[in-house]
Amino acid sequence: MTRIPHDTSGEPNPLRALDLDRLRRRTSMKWRTYPEDVLPLWVAEMDVPLAEPVVRAVTDALALGDTGYPVGTAYAEALAAFADKRWGWDGLAVERTAIVPDVMLGVVEMLKLVTGPGDPVVVNPPVYPPFVQFVGNMDRQVVEAPLGADGRIDPAVLEEAFAGAVADGRRAAYLLCSPHNPTGTVHTAAELTAVAALAERYGVRVVADEIHAPLVVGGADFVPYLSVPGGESGLSLMSASKAWNLAGLKAALAVAGPAAAADLARLPEEVGHGPSHVGVIAHTAALRDGTAWLDALLTGLDDNRRLLVDLLAEHLPAIAYRPGEATYLAWLDCHALGLGGDPADTFLHRGRVALNSGLPFGTGGAGHVRLNLATSPQILEEAVRRMAAALDR
Ligand SMILES: Cc1ncc(COP(=O)(O)O)c(C=O)c1O
Repeated sequence: MTRIPHDTSGEPNPLRALDLDRLRRRTSMKWRTYPEDVLPLWVAEMDVPLAEPVVRAVTDALALGDTGYPVGTAYAEALAAFADKRWGWDGLAVERTAIVPDVMLGVVEMLKLVTGPGDPVVVNPPVYPPFVQFVGNMDRQVVEAPLGADGRIDPAVLEEAFAGAVADGRRAAYLLCSPHNPTGTVHTAAELTAVAALAERYGVRVVADEIHAPLVVGGADFVPYLSVPGGESGLSLMSASKAWNLAGLKAALAVAGPAAAADLARLPEEVGHGPSHVGVIAHTAALRDGTAWLDALLTGLDDNRRLLVDLLAEHLPAIAYRPGEATYLAWLDCHALGLGGDPADTFLHRGRVALNSGLPFGTGGAGHVRLNLATSPQILEEAVRRMAAALDR
């Protein structure tokens, strides 16, 4: 498995390209949920201009009126080539993929393939809140297997959850977040191999949400779940949407391991009607031609991560922050500030800065906030200044 080192061509840092006036003209959730005087560093949208190859591909499609229905395997081929080059994984077989509208709807469809109503789905809180919401809304029971204090999967806790989930003969699934949102934990090959062994032992099906996979920084290597021994019966959801900021251009891919191909083949045809054709074009261009932009972003995120460490040390030393190796999210332990279970409330109302409350992330979320680092150093600095000011009032 050879890995090509990250491209360090002269691509500018996209996090430094846009100022606040320009960002405030955006109409998406990040910018329009709170009043104008609130600085938004919450939902996972990035304050970046799009990669030029993406803009070109979408603009060309619009100029051509190429806005019909999606068809073909271009997205899967681009992802397979990216996975091979980036992660040294040549096992992504295009014939074992399906386009889905987005990652979360893909998760729902994969869970429907391997579980039935009332069946348990194991998750690792604190975790991306829609895991619990979507699973609950599809009449599955959520079973918590909390991460350890180090932010990593605890095999003993996971085993207990698996054993309990299958105890009354139900079909169980494990919804793995890899890399993990909100901690930014990158699961190692050894950890994922242990997960696969446990899943096999208890007959639990693994559905891996790998949306943050291209956003692994700091030298850590992403390991696709389907690539580890025992991962062959897994199903994965991947997308260019987080890494290239394409959430509004709906498309994602479901990928089956060799032993899950028959499951994916049962995916109802209409699911493939959900993704946007323009979305597929954008995601394909990102994976195929957007790696220099991605590398510039990753470098900028690394800088921001270090900047946040320094800013917290200077202004809010009581906040505990362990920088993750992936994602652009910072999970901040604010217990020592004495703001109770929901410090985001104080930061919003007294500091006028919007962060995600840790509470919806489940067990381990109280007393935490999630901060979105994908912004300019200036905005990051202003956000921390506001957070500190909130405590003085
Ligand atoms: C772990 C995880 N999965 C899924 C999503 C949402 O992806 P999509 O918009 O493709 O459903 C996010 C968004 O932040 C996420 O962090």
